Amino acid sequence: MIYLDYNATTPLAPEAATAMQPYLGKIYGNPSSLHAYGQQMRLALGKARQQVANLLNCYPSQIIFTSGGTESNNLALIGYTLANRREGNHIITSQIEHPAILNVCSYLETRGFQISYLPVNHAGQVEPETLRKAIQPNTILVSIMHANNETGAIQPISQLVEIAHANNAVFHTDAAQSCGKIAVDVQKMKVDMLSMAGHKLYGPTGCGALFVASHIKLQNILFGAGQELGLRPGTENVVSIVGLGVACKIATEKLTENNNWLLKCSDRFYQLIKEAYPDVRLNGSWQDKLPNTLNLSFPGWQAQELLEQIPQVAASAGSACHSGQDTISPVLAALGIELKQAQGSIRFSTGRFTTLEEIDLAAKLIIKALQKKPISQNSVNETNLGET
Ligand SMILES: Cc1ncc(COP(=O)(O)O)c(C=O)c1O
Repeated sequence: MIYLDYNATTPLAPEAATAMQPYLGKIYGNPSSLHAYGQQMRLALGKARQQVANLLNCYPSQIIFTSGGTESNNLALIGYTLANRREGNHIITSQIEHPAILNVCSYLETRGFQISYLPVNHAGQVEPETLRKAIQPNTILVSIMHANNETGAIQPISQLVEIAHANNAVFHTDAAQSCGKIAVDVQKMKVDMLSMAGHKLYGPTGCGALFVASHIKLQNILFGAGQELGLRPGTENVVSIVGLGVACKIATEKLTENNNWLLKCSDRFYQLIKEAYPDVRLNGSWQDKLPNTLNLSFPGWQAQELLEQIPQVAASAGSACHSGQDTISPVLAALGIELKQAQGSIRFSTGRFTTLEEIDLAAKLIIKALQKKPISQNSVNETNLGET
């Protein structure tokens, strides 16, 4: 098997697994306990918090540990709007967000908030002018993702933040896909809140973090004891947090090296396919794209049909077949990609452990499959996808 689905999840870094091991039995205690057992856990939490803060370039006190990207997004959006609803009830987001933002917004609509879903251009980016026009006097929050999970499109966050701040709105970004792949510096981006997910950067699943700038007031969405400044009550998941910390440490130290490697692998993959199959198309733009993500369209093919021809390659369909009908990713639809092109779209995402041998073999298998004739073309509907 060749794993080219690193945007869905990444394997746990061996260094993170090694660091976690003692906390699976040998070292234990409740970080809230004042005795030595508890204090060793508190120390481990502090170390991990510093490692996460180093990756994001913020203070450890600005990091709230959560169960992952979904929970970080929920806490940011629900927590901020509940705490600040007297300031206004308008929220701005984009059409290409992950369901962990879109479905939170749908919920907030039921609680009396008004949401604007901004469109994107052909490169998959929200244009600053689009945001400027959407801002209203009652806009309190703008949430636009840092990099898209399907196309890898990197958003012009600094410019968007500037517009939001000039209009007294707070800015949150979902950086689940960008952390570990490109520089994520909250000082440079000037964001007020940022979500990250451990399992997208070689940390454990079920663990993530939310950066919250010191001036931001949040309402807790879970109720319990006072852990994580009362914003995430419940005894901390120390073993996973230790793994997340080590994953962030590696991501910080090897950012350039990883970035270059991801780019080398995905460029080679694309070149090999393009040479043999010139009709292949990249969905999105080469500029401002995550170095590891290739969302490729194979005209005439249904994505699932092509994936079935290459069972050795693990990648994701940009459209998926549900009950006999093809469905198109709303992200590709938002890019204005024609239905036929979207139907044959596959997301390949490389990672730190991808080898050039794997790239060559995966390309060879796909090229061989493309020499066959596609079997069918089903009817197409738009529906929700893009969940990883
Ligand atoms: C952009 C984005 N945000 C949020 C999430 C959800 O993260 P988690 O799986 O850690 O809840 C994902 C995961 O696919 C994602 O790609």
